[in-house]
Amino acid sequence: MNSDNGAAIETEGLEFSYIDGTKALANVSIRIPAGKKVAFLGPNGAGKTTLFLHFNGLVKPDRGKVYVAGREVRYDRASLLEVRKKVGIVFQDPDTQLFSSSVKQEISFGPLNLGLSREATEQRVRQAMEDTGILDLQDKPTHFLSYGQKKRVAIADILAMQPQVLVCDEPTAWLDVKHSRQIMEILDRCNARGVTVIISTHDVDMAYAWSDYIFVMKDGQVISEGVPLEIFADREVLQEAELDEPLLFKLSKELAGKGCLKEAAPAKSVEELIGRIKG
Ligand SMILES: Nc1ncnc2c1ncn2[C@@H]1O[C@H](COP(=O)(O)OP(=O)(O)O)[C@@H](O)[C@H]1O
Ligand SMILES: [Mg+2]
Repeated sequence: MNSDNGAAIETEGLEFSYIDGTKALANVSIRIPAGKKVAFLGPNGAGKTTLFLHFNGLVKPDRGKVYVAGREVRYDRASLLEVRKKVGIVFQDPDTQLFSSSVKQEISFGPLNLGLSREATEQRVRQAMEDTGILDLQDKPTHFLSYGQKKRVAIADILAMQPQVLVCDEPTAWLDVKHSRQIMEILDRCNARGVTVIISTHDVDMAYAWSDYIFVMKDGQVISEGVPLEIFADREVLQEAELDEPLLFKLSKELAGKGCLKEAAPAKSVEELIGRIKG
């Protein structure tokens, strides 16, 4: 586990263009604090997915470096295996990640591939299924599952590898409110055990309420970073990244401005806001 003041992942001057010439990352130098809940916010095409693919060496930068837990990522087979044990990525579309026949087989594949014993694998797989609430689905073929269920299997798949850093690309895309909440609770439980959780999203309300720290991306660059209250107080950044103010943030500000709140600090939940209304 990382210490609180260490960096889970750092990048230095990352540059990356796709084969068709699209420049997807331009000089990205960031430091992602360990043990935190971190969101990357930005419009479609900002470069979030491309950046995530660099975090465990799935993509090699044209220029620049990536460090995981302080160690520079190298691109030989042995080093990549090491880095992929530390950093697990859950892709946006679970269908690109799942391929085995049953849920249990699917989740077992990673740990078995690490060379773990049957017993150790069983134990990890069970824990991962428990953590994601899919024990009852273990014998089902993955292709029969609903989208929300597949999403949880995809997370269990990665959790069974026991990574220090869990990266989820758009974890709540296409999910309704209830299923989004389920997913975010799974991520919270991982974080409570010390795992650094990194997500991408364009849901400003979720990023505001959930994150400890936010990076804002636009056109392949990180244009701002900070705690949610700093990010959402910066109108220029929001405008540049085409992001709205989170509803709770905006309402808190308006109500505080009219003298309706006992405490001026913006609320992070509806309950918190209601509790602050005078009268
Ligand atoms: N396989 C690809 N080939 C060419 N261009 C790509 C590919 N994947 C993404 N891009 C381009 O790279 C840029 C960054 O995309 P992406 O990392 O997917 O952004 P985001 O995840 O923030 O939506 C966009 O301009 C996108 O069109
Ligand atoms: Mg993306």
